[in-house]
Amino acid sequence: MSLTPVQLAIHGSAGRMGQRLVALANEDPGLHVAAAVDAADPASARLEGRYGAVIDFTLPEGFRAAADFCEASGSPLVVGTTGLTDADQARIDGLAGAIPVLQATNFSLVVNVLNHLAAQAVTLLGDGYDLEILEAHHRYKADAPSGTALTLARVVADAAGRDFDSCVKLERHGDHVPRQASDITVQTLRIGDHAGEHTLFLAAPGERMELKHVSTSRDSYAAGALRAAAWLSDKPAGRYTMKDVLGL
Ligand SMILES: NC(=O)c1ccc[n+]([C@@H]2O[C@H](COP(=O)([O-])OP(=O)(O)OC[C@H]3O[C@@H](n4cnc5c(N)ncnc54)[C@H](OP(=O)(O)O)[C@@H]3O)[C@@H](O)[C@H]2O)c1
Repeated sequence: MSLTPVQLAIHGSAGRMGQRLVALANEDPGLHVAAAVDAADPASARLEGRYGAVIDFTLPEGFRAAADFCEASGSPLVVGTTGLTDADQARIDGLAGAIPVLQATNFSLVVNVLNHLAAQAVTLLGDGYDLEILEAHHRYKADAPSGTALTLARVVADAAGRDFDSCVKLERHGDHVPRQASDITVQTLRIGDHAGEHTLFLAAPGERMELKHVSTSRDSYAAGALRAAAWLSDKPAGRYTMKDVLGL
């Protein structure tokens, strides 16, 4: 770890996540918020120069602006924004040839450990278990299902040896829609001020296991994103995940 604080730009600094990122970074002597930037605040700083890392928690168009800036300036980029398109994901692949980029749909240490355990559980149980995911978030969340739920579904599909596109279903309704053995269904709730909850059900007749993560505040995500930014700041160009940061 460098003795000089890592110079950060927080993109989306006025948002729910951005405010916690700025607050927690200000408490960490190893970090310095060089720029707090937000489209909602005309008085906020602008992205300029080069940073130890830019952390983006905005909307897809905000991500694209941050990506343009990081590509031009050579600044490492931490991507927290969810709801990105396939073209955005391809853009991240392209950026990774020139700068260090780390994307996570969830920066919480516990969620990343849960993904790890989920893969192990699916592998150990083998076929014959119904795999379903339920997620809940606050009423203001724009995208559904959550990026975290989709990542968990992908982890589960990979561990079960199933094709994501054909097995992962985002709704179930109708007069005759019995569960197909290969289904991995993701259900979504939007309720109140919920900071986020994800449950993976692994069930067979007579028994059920639930792997569940409950967020009680956004600080778990913010702390993980700051840790990721500090880690990324001295890495070579490439595409990284929280697994790299946490050594999972
Ligand atoms: N990966 C994770 O661990 C994790 C955890 C939590 C949330 N998230 C994701 O992070 C994103 C932000 O969530 P949030 O709850 O903080 O949302 P939020 O409260 O709406 O905050 C987003 C902020 O970014 C600003 N913004 C939008 N477009 C921008 C642009 N082009 N340039 C600069 N600023 C821009 C918004 O301004 P306006 O109000 O003017 O639009 C708003 O102030 C979402 O995609 C969410 O799903 C990820």
